[in-house]
Amino acid sequence: MKGLILSGGHGVRLRPITYSQQKQLIPIANKPILFYCIEDLINAGVQDIGIVVGPNKEQVMNTVLSFKWDANIEFFCQDAPRGLAHAVKISEEFLKDEKFIMYLGDNLLKGGINGFVRDFVDAKVESSLLLTRVEDPQHYGVALVDEQRKVILQLLEKPKKPPSNLSIVGIYGLTPSIFEAIDNIKPSWRGEFEITDALHWLIEKGYSIRYDLVEGWWKDTGKPEDLLEANRLILDGICSENKGCIENSRINGRIVIGDNTVIEEHSTIAGPTIIGDNCTISNAYVGPFTSIGNNCRIIDTEVENSIVLDGSDIVHGGKIIESLIGKDVKIRKNNSLPKGKKLVIGDNSEIEL
Ligand code: TTP
Repeated sequence: MKGLILSGGHGVRLRPITYSQQKQLIPIANKPILFYCIEDLINAGVQDIGIVVGPNKEQVMNTVLSFKWDANIEFFCQDAPRGLAHAVKISEEFLKDEKFIMYLGDNLLKGGINGFVRDFVDAKVESSLLLTRVEDPQHYGVALVDEQRKVILQLLEKPKKPPSNLSIVGIYGLTPSIFEAIDNIKPSWRGEFEITDALHWLIEKGYSIRYDLVEGWWKDTGKPEDLLEANRLILDGICSENKGCIENSRINGRIVIGDNTVIEEHSTIAGPTIIGDNCTISNAYVGPFTSIGNNCRIIDTEVENSIVLDGSDIVHGGKIIESLIGKDVKIRKNNSLPKGKKLVIGDNSEIEL
């Protein structure tokens, strides 16, 4: 079976980070979200993987190709983010002969997809979806189901009055019939070709769509708070590994520390926390639930419940909580007069002072 990962899209809800960095490359516990998706497909036995790329496509391709994967990987360029169904359509040549799995490249699933893929291989259905119960179904694709037959009766994209609290998770089992369905749908009010409309077309034509419920947690990392929660969930499962050097400092709980990283000058690291390679943590408090990328300096600062990307430098930064800090960011104390906050912040940034 083949796999298709969607790694295009503008990621508007994660601006300004996504101006320069594709959403699916943002690291969770220091690993790009996209890599978790690739690993899930490979673990489920998928050998041929297509990745749809759009904005920042070179960045995505270079990052993926900088690793050796136990699968063949091809890329498909989407000219603009015209919707999930459009992304599938442009990959038709690659996918047209057999059942395939579509995986949204910004989704994280704790339990992997082995069981889902195994069931879909054997099932005589046109499609198979993963569903989960959510508190705010109006923000998701929602399914109305027949629980006895385990089939889907109706699908709606972000309905104002949801018919159930079952939301579609970003992993879909599809067959080539989806291409005929996509040919028969029109762009939605958002101007996008919606995969839910194509699936709904299949249901209306009498095709059968089955579903499974997610076991364990699932996270769609569309917004900063989702990324922080995904980071907490992944860090919750890490095992300690220390390749760095700890001088005059305290470590509590499970910590991963990379090569050439120095923890010094009465610092405290509270697990679960991961710190990348070539970092200096000096007279600082880091953690819990914090991921610090490579080549960072955290000096005279507290960082808690946060993600800090590679190359960032935080000196006398006070107490930083629940924050997403991009690459090569500099945070300093203002030591000159007049006193006050000096800010150089990109478009669409959000700060709480
Ligand atoms: P979304 O989260 O719906 O869209 P987005 O990533 O552009 O984010 P935002 O709404 O904040 O602008 O997309 C789900 C996944 O599908 C995500 O991994 C991006 C990918 N995608 C494509 O590859 N092509 C597309 O045309 C669209 C709409 C999304």
